[in-house]
Amino acid sequence: MTAMERITPTDAASLVDTERGTVSRRLYVDEDLFELEMERIFTRTWVFIGLESEIPEPGDYVTRNMGTDPVIMVRDNDGKIGVFHNSCPHRGVMICQADQGHVKGFVCAYHGWSYHLDGSHAGAFHPEEFYRGGVPFDELGLHKVAQIDTYAGLVFATWNKELGPLIETITESSRWYLDLLLGRTPEGMEVLGPPQRWTAEQNWKIGGINFCGDGPHAPTLHSVIGPQIGESTEQFMAAMLGESPDVTISSGQNMLLNLLPGKETPFIGYPPDLVKLFKETLNADQINLLGRMMTNVCTLFPHLSLVQAPVRFSENEPPVNFLTLRVWQPVSATRTEVWNWFLVEKEASEEYKEAALKAGLRSFSAGGTFDQDDAEGWSATSRGLQGPIGRSLNLSFQTVVGWRDEVWEDFPGPGKTSPNMYTEMTEFEYLTEWKRWMGGEK
Ligand code: FES
Ligand SMILES: [Fe+2]
Repeated sequence: MTAMERITPTDAASLVDTERGTVSRRLYVDEDLFELEMERIFTRTWVFIGLESEIPEPGDYVTRNMGTDPVIMVRDNDGKIGVFHNSCPHRGVMICQADQGHVKGFVCAYHGWSYHLDGSHAGAFHPEEFYRGGVPFDELGLHKVAQIDTYAGLVFATWNKELGPLIETITESSRWYLDLLLGRTPEGMEVLGPPQRWTAEQNWKIGGINFCGDGPHAPTLHSVIGPQIGESTEQFMAAMLGESPDVTISSGQNMLLNLLPGKETPFIGYPPDLVKLFKETLNADQINLLGRMMTNVCTLFPHLSLVQAPVRFSENEPPVNFLTLRVWQPVSATRTEVWNWFLVEKEASEEYKEAALKAGLRSFSAGGTFDQDDAEGWSATSRGLQGPIGRSLNLSFQTVVGWRDEVWEDFPGPGKTSPNMYTEMTEFEYLTEWKRWMGGEK
């Protein structure tokens, strides 16, 4: 019996109660649900694969996953990016076992079949007569994804032929906000080295939900907020109820903006030459938000998140902004691999690039102060839910009941903006999107 037969779309939909704001704890621990998620979500949505700047030259490749399926992202001799299932069409051996590299083509280690950079079959090691004309080599190239598309240097792919173009998922409204992070200078962002990776004993959705807008955990779990972000806990608490909205941008895409109050746009933590480029690139409303921004966290369903904040490590140091992009790579219901890239403006000075990387590594990375705290909270969730009683209960997102009808009407950006980051609206919207994909609405 497959997971699909064990859990019908109606069963899956019943696990998220949109009226009451409750969610079954099975979403964090159930292996059947995990199997179904890989099928119903990761074979059907647009899935983030990597960055164009990770494979600048023909022959450059990286290996990634789409859900639990391994894939290769490679640039071919025409400069085009391809994404292929990382498994030999002969007997299924994983073709490419390194994380990244540069090749002229791919050769399978098992029986020596080889493939061009565009995925087509190149040759077989053994003589042609051995195969006696029975093997349709022309049809036995690497299995291709159905569609590939990019936004701001980010590469997405899907196995789903029926899915609309990426602009229907990462919409104009999404781009309005994401450009504050990824498209704020004429040349855009570049990646600072290969991704950091670490394993966490938690469900893959927990981090993504947190990055939709869990403002309230910040002053309790993160004791470093004051010294590092440059706000005291009292200031942070005041900001939570002040100009710090939860924004549901579009379906399954959510952001929390922690803004300095007032009209001043001090652009904390940016060098003046970059601020000049921001002003040439973004519109007045975007500049107003970026200039007042302290922390910005965002998740694009299903498993891509971004965080930006200005941080400092002593009172004498000026704050520096970092930007991290991360994937919550599913491994099992209670195990996730975090892939963490740091990005910086291509136009930035080498000195600023180094400072931005250092700021990120010290705060949002495997050894970073914020991730150390979060990992403790998130893995403790798996420990808390390991027994049969635990998974029979619900999680509470019931704060939404008191806030769902309140909208920040004149907020200067698209989407549905809730008045502050206490509302849990963006976190619950992520789960509502999960319900749409798992429950058969999408
Ligand atoms: S499994 Fe790859 S050549 Fe046989
Ligand atoms: Fe956190």
